[in-house]
Amino acid sequence: MHHRHRAGVVHPRRAALAVALAVAVAASGCDLLTTEAPDPGEVFDGPVDGLTAAELAAFVRGDREFGRPFAPSEGLGPIFNNVSCAACHSADGRGRIENALTRFSIGLDPALELGGPQIQDKAIPGAEAERLPAGVQVSVRLPPPVFGVGLIEAIPEATILALTDSLDTDGDGISGRPNWVTPPDFVPADEPGGGPEPRLGRFSRKAQVASILHQVAGAYHQDMGITSDFLPVENRNPLASRATEAADRVADPEIPAGTVRAVVNYVRLLAPPAPGADSPPRRQGAALFGSLGCARCHVPVLQTGPNPVAALANQPVRLYSDLLLHDMGDGLADNRPDGSASGSEWRTAPLWGLRLMRRFLNGDAFLLHDGRARSIEEAILLHGGEAQTARDGFAALGPDARAAVLDFVGSR
Ligand code: HEC
Ligand code: HEC
Repeated sequence: MHHRHRAGVVHPRRAALAVALAVAVAASGCDLLTTEAPDPGEVFDGPVDGLTAAELAAFVRGDREFGRPFAPSEGLGPIFNNVSCAACHSADGRGRIENALTRFSIGLDPALELGGPQIQDKAIPGAEAERLPAGVQVSVRLPPPVFGVGLIEAIPEATILALTDSLDTDGDGISGRPNWVTPPDFVPADEPGGGPEPRLGRFSRKAQVASILHQVAGAYHQDMGITSDFLPVENRNPLASRATEAADRVADPEIPAGTVRAVVNYVRLLAPPAPGADSPPRRQGAALFGSLGCARCHVPVLQTGPNPVAALANQPVRLYSDLLLHDMGDGLADNRPDGSASGSEWRTAPLWGLRLMRRFLNGDAFLLHDGRARSIEEAILLHGGEAQTARDGFAALGPDARAAVLDFVGSR
């Protein structure tokens, strides 16, 4: 079983919170308050076990940058979607539907590609936000959790590729496909997922991103309008007047490479929460998860390879995903191809952390790529395409068996 040790390592947030709470208790004279922060396995923003002091210091620095809200005077915009990473990735987990991104899908005038792949629906004073041109279809993308991405990065390509079955040679209707991505030039060749050759995409909803660095530098640029040494030219609204470009007066690049690197390191070192306790009905749910075929895509555990960060090396990754693309049918299609992903293919969503998702979203749940499902059951029933047989098998279960599957999935 997965056992979480923390000998000698103080959880930084926990320590800070404990101090803050102790002060609050002393000030109020109230003895009902607890000074205990949540257990490390119960959060989305704790570090992986076993980091060195230097790695932990880097983690704390990156944490601050992840939470830092930008103002226009600090470079925000001219057009943007939100002011910080944390504003979209709530508590480092999935986002709320209000914080979803809208990507252009089909019917887009090629001239508008200048505006980048997504709509920046906010603007700083003096600038004009993007509006959806008539006749353009969109793909709505809910922010996925950011914990565990360093473990995902550390899984060898060969391990993931061994799970592909593009031609469905085993005849089970399920054919995982890799998304081969050509890394952008700004990702150095020695960066995981970098280099001139196509690399295995692992990140984002269609696995269209091969490196954490690409993901993070792109997020600063596209989601927040923050230029960096990696992407130094401001994103523009091709339909707006010149004033939009002039509105952001902060010299580019607005943040140095070191800030982007700090955040890359931070998310890389974020631990997934621990799964819930074992119980007999839960074991029945796990068995059904296997026999229904869920585990064919939601592969329970993958193993990392060697890694420069010892804490990430040769670890089991209990993510419940093969990180491959699957055709999920017309109902879930967004008609937006991305790299080699088609308009109906999606990366198998990892299921880790579902146990805690409502805790950090005011009791709400938003599931699937666009957040349309409000419960785990609804998400399963919306599966189609390659997952139709598994979905129908789930729907045909009696109430107890169904509850066992939901309990198991909801305890990850
Ligand atoms: C406007 C909301 C928003 C902001 C701000 C934002 N993100 Fe994201 N993030 C998203 C969405 C949406 C996706 C999925 C995109 C897709 O599938 O095309 C994503 C994907 C990711 C992923 C990939 C996770 C995975 O499972 O593959 C990481 C890592 C990430 N973001 C980190 C960051 C960091 C770091 C920042 C700040 C520099 C940031 N994000 C800012 C919305 C946001
Ligand atoms: C053919 C592969 C495949 C099979 C089989 C499959 N899934 Fe999925 N599952 C996916 C993909 C791909 C997504 C993401 C779809 C999207 O984002 O729109 C997903 C999403 C989910 C989600 C939502 C997760 C989130 O974070 O939004 C849950 C819950 C889930 N699956 C549970 C199950 C269960 C339970 C079964 C078995 C009854 C199952 N899946 C069978 C591929 C599969």
